[in-house]
Amino acid sequence: MVIFGASGDLTKRKLIPSLYNLATSHYLNDDFAVIGFSRQPLSHEDFRTRLSDEIKTFSPEPVDPKIWGWFRERIYYQKGEFPDPAAYQGLKQLLEEVEGRHHTLGNRLFYLSTLPSFFSTVVQQLGAADLVRQDDKTWRRVIIEKPFGHDLESARALNREISRVLDENQIYRIDHYLGKETVQNLLAFRFGNGIFEPIWNRRYIDHVEITVAEELGVEQRGPYYEEAGALRDMVPNHILQLISLTAMEPPISFDPEAVRDEKHKVLKAISPFSPQEVLSRAVRGQYGEGTVEGTSVQGYRGEARVSPESCVETFVALKLFVDNWRWAGVPFYVRTGKRLPKRSTEIVIQFHRPPLPLFREAGVKQFSSNLLVIRIQPDEGISLKFEAKVPGPKMELGSVRMDFKYQDYFGSQPNTGYETLLYDCMLGDATPFQRADMVEAGWSVVQPILDVWKALPPRDFPNYAAGSWGPMESEELMERDGKKWKIL
Ligand SMILES: NC(=O)c1ccc[n+]([C@@H]2O[C@H](COP(=O)([O-])OP(=O)(O)OC[C@H]3O[C@@H](n4cnc5c(N)ncnc54)[C@H](OP(=O)(O)O)[C@@H]3O)[C@@H](O)[C@H]2O)c1
Repeated sequence: MVIFGASGDLTKRKLIPSLYNLATSHYLNDDFAVIGFSRQPLSHEDFRTRLSDEIKTFSPEPVDPKIWGWFRERIYYQKGEFPDPAAYQGLKQLLEEVEGRHHTLGNRLFYLSTLPSFFSTVVQQLGAADLVRQDDKTWRRVIIEKPFGHDLESARALNREISRVLDENQIYRIDHYLGKETVQNLLAFRFGNGIFEPIWNRRYIDHVEITVAEELGVEQRGPYYEEAGALRDMVPNHILQLISLTAMEPPISFDPEAVRDEKHKVLKAISPFSPQEVLSRAVRGQYGEGTVEGTSVQGYRGEARVSPESCVETFVALKLFVDNWRWAGVPFYVRTGKRLPKRSTEIVIQFHRPPLPLFREAGVKQFSSNLLVIRIQPDEGISLKFEAKVPGPKMELGSVRMDFKYQDYFGSQPNTGYETLLYDCMLGDATPFQRADMVEAGWSVVQPILDVWKALPPRDFPNYAAGSWGPMESEELMERDGKKWKIL
């Protein structure tokens, strides 16, 4: 495995700890080695020492010296500037040495943990140095970090550029959300059980809510966020992936292409926003000062390396429709934001109420809706809310919950969220990775919103207090339809 951007944040925080966790669980082959590539002048030994220090901080569990010792021996370093062809010649030579020493058979996984502006450069250089040509006996795969493109046009351009060098089956566009167990469990839950699928449609489901809430602000990522904003950062990738897993048809098999075909169909079926609909069905917000968990925090415009007049949104709420036979007329409400009251990612399936209020005579005026809640994080699990009789002589109904918690059944394993993805890529299973057409379909959903928002800069920012659930318009989006966001 070669990591481009080996001295960066992602490498130390996620990639190396994930590889270490894979080694701990015996998922890494004995014939494995990793080469870090960055511009800093480090020897192999410098790089090993550096990672040995960092793993102590970033491993979720205490580091086992024996396993780390095994892993440490497999670490190498190549200095180079991303656009410099000579550096790839150096890499080629080192790869040949390392392949000989560790018997890796010429199989290579290149991980582009670089700024997005270098994705195409590195791929072109890999092609020019003839490092990614596969044959019958060896595979060469490239994982590309997010964000993949900045809008529809740039995503298309990037797809075009990298496809000149790589076949689609060599490209693994990562969305680390898809590495989460609960996200992967969505498929098991929907298609591994007989009881949910028959009611998983417009006849029984009133609407779907997806919330991806963070209590943190932008922290050190001000410059990135100023370029991206909440819509680009969360919707074309994470949120649309959650929608497609929730809404997809059963695939004909668990073959990666079969699953991705069905997910792609959902993305294509999301009805595009007209400019008028952007105004009525898309809400944006930016946090001002406020209180989160009892602590006063500053507004977005006061954050480090953020413009004091920034018009970048830190909150988005949308009402979407998946225009197909199963979902016609069922709204999908999604919201995501920073500095919300708590960190929580949930998918809520709200079912229709019973057709007749049978218990009216007994004073029960309206039923609550049955809710199926899929908690992605934290406290991963699934719960079902339904009505039951409150004990006593009167007919009184109360809401109760059946609750499944992942941890109760399966315990918890040290996990950064990247382990499954790295492992799947090594096995050549592209199921949890985005295909070119999926990325472009995702950007096609978002592009009309980007266009209208660019043409009409916000005039009311900041429009929600840090520690609240976003601007009033987000509540109104639901209230107009006689609904409310589920309280989290
Ligand atoms: N960090 C996260 O948690 C996270 C989460 C999700 C996605 N991502 C994505 O992952 C990617 C990497 O993020 P990051 O946070 O690790 O970025 P980062 O900390 O800025 O790391 C970038 C790496 O690239 C190296 N580099 C920069 N310019 C170079 C050049 N011209 N030649 C050779 N090396 C060069 C840097 O070396 P120096 O040390 O010398 O600058 C560093 O090793 C980005 O696409 C990001 O969007 C990151």
